Amino acid sequence: MEFSGQSLPVRSVRESRSEMTELILPNDTNTLGNLLGGRLMHFIDLVGAMAAYRHARTHVVTASMDHIDFIAPVHVGDLLILKSSLNRAFNTSMEVGVKVWVENTVAGTYRHVGSAYLTFVAVDARGRSVPVAQLVPETDEDKRRYEDAIRRRELRKLELERKKQARAATPEARV
Ligand SMILES: CC(C)(COP(=O)(O)OP(=O)(O)OC[C@H]1O[C@@H](n2cnc3c(N)ncnc32)[C@H](O)[C@@H]1OP(=O)(O)O)[C@@H](O)C(=O)NCCC(=O)NCCS
Repeated sequence: MEFSGQSLPVRSVRESRSEMTELILPNDTNTLGNLLGGRLMHFIDLVGAMAAYRHARTHVVTASMDHIDFIAPVHVGDLLILKSSLNRAFNTSMEVGVKVWVENTVAGTYRHVGSAYLTFVAVDARGRSVPVAQLVPETDEDKRRYEDAIRRRELRKLELERKKQARAATPEARV
């Protein structure tokens, strides 16, 4: 969908920057006392949505989350620190980057445990996609992420197309 010709507001990466901290409790963990992967994905989705809301200033829905590597376990009692910001705005969609750290307050250690890229789509109250403000990268880091985001978008499009063709070639399964 193209929205050329419309005058859209322009925002910086700074305006979308978001952060949340969670104390990991037994209810968040598996039988070994490690944070559940699905719970971590939930936190990543939330902090990613905060950045997207701040940029789009309307409703947003999660369209996709790229693959996540769980680099190290997070234990009960740890503090989980999640940071997000917009990498690039397209037409109605936005790529948000999320980085996750864990702080062990007893040992005084702080380490990176995961990263993810999410795509959010701005929608109106009826769920129809709407154009978003454009993003202007300011710092060298902003510019690097901005350039990398277009490459990931192209890969996502290819993957979506491949899945579409695979679905079309597979007969509907009966339930
Ligand atoms: C995401 C959604 C709005 C896209 O709707 P659609 O009819 O496919 O819309 P379009 O084809 O017009 O695409 C709209 C934008 O979404 C992007 N998009 C669609 N599917 C995508 C995907 N799987 N990954 C990344 N981006 C995607 C398109 O590239 C397009 O971006 P652009 O406007 O910046 O170029 C729709 O699939 C939806 O509502 N999904 C459910 C979302 C949801 O419930 N999420 C979980 C709870 S929040």
